[in-house]
Amino acid sequence: MKIAVMPGDGIGKEVTEQAVRVLRAVMGAHAAMELVEAPVGQAGVDAAGDPLPVQTREIADKADAILFGSAGVPGDEAIEYMMRPGASLLRLRKQLDLFANFRPAVMFQDLIGASTLKPEVVQGLDLMILRELTGDIYFGEPRGVHRNAKGEREGINTMRYNESEIRRIGHVAFQTARLRRHKVCSVDKANVLDTMQLWREVMTEVSREYPDVELTHLFVDAAAMQLMRDPRQFDVIVTGNIFGDILSDAAAMLTGSIGMLPSASMSYGKKGLYEPVHGTAPDIAGKDVANPLASILSMAMMLRYSFGLQEKADQVEVAVRKVLAQGLRTADIAQPGMRRVGTQEMGEAVLRAL
Ligand code: NAD
Ligand code: IPM
Ligand code: MN
Repeated sequence: MKIAVMPGDGIGKEVTEQAVRVLRAVMGAHAAMELVEAPVGQAGVDAAGDPLPVQTREIADKADAILFGSAGVPGDEAIEYMMRPGASLLRLRKQLDLFANFRPAVMFQDLIGASTLKPEVVQGLDLMILRELTGDIYFGEPRGVHRNAKGEREGINTMRYNESEIRRIGHVAFQTARLRRHKVCSVDKANVLDTMQLWREVMTEVSREYPDVELTHLFVDAAAMQLMRDPRQFDVIVTGNIFGDILSDAAAMLTGSIGMLPSASMSYGKKGLYEPVHGTAPDIAGKDVANPLASILSMAMMLRYSFGLQEKADQVEVAVRKVLAQGLRTADIAQPGMRRVGTQEMGEAVLRAL
């Protein structure tokens, strides 16, 4: 098992450290596992003058899986796109053609009280956001800020999807639904955007190959509303890159905190990139207060998806549930009467539970 570890910036470093500890423990001292650490984000700039240094790209190519923390520093949106620490992740996704991003939002029973929604709305929630990750307005050309004919600055981004990009994520959605509750909700903005009209047409075509799976469509604004009103109506939500980015942060809050939401980004084979949905959280970085559970759960997804180690993945997830049942809480999921712990102590508690 060749695993590239890319902690990145801010709390990425803190939470990845805990995920690696748990990984080593669950695999045991004799596992044929090689961990190679590589700098990304500002850490890449500091080490090699590039948020995604060439050595990091090579390590990514050779690895079976990548455990990613998070990348980005405050104000980096002012830096030229390719050199922006946060863009290292976008470049990596493109390099490895990681077009299918799985973002499961699961309500842990013991965290019901930590959700900002009513318990009866989120009880038992288990949905999968499948976000297309290598197309859309994130990568569409033309892009940039130019002077227009009037000499005024003008910003341009292009929402762009071709048929095959939509079709391949569609197939992943229907196949994922077959392993779950056989429902796919495709989220678009077909009422306004041509790209999204094509999205809806192609999803409908793909669905004909999966008569056992129910396909529904929602416009993204209505989907955002339904996620808050009745999130349990959803099984698999398939959507484009930008809508998936926004809806997955919203879905995170249903479960109590963005510090709980893991993700897996996959291509055609078993190789994947695993990372928490959250960012570098500059407001709490370096204070040992970040919740490491999203990172630990991302590592469990890695064991499951890239290495087929179902039992070990289960063990990690059970350990996380146990720690929550014991009443340990980081600040983001704090509840009255529960014991407040920091990042490291939460990691240690998961180790003990394991
Ligand atoms: P963020 O997810 O970093 O933080 C949003 C809020 O959630 C903050 O208040 C933060 O303290 C809190 N939070 C996030 N993770 C937490 C955790 N594990 N435990 C407790 N609280 C947590 O989003 P942002 O502030 O919009 O972005 C900060 C930087 O991170 C930006 O540079 C952005 O580009 C980058 N970013 C990176 C990734 C990634 O690498 N995958 C994802 C999102 C944002
Ligand atoms: C995410 C992040 C990234 C995205 C940023 C950091 C490029 O917000 O993974 O959700 O927008 O995809
Ligand atoms: Mn995001």
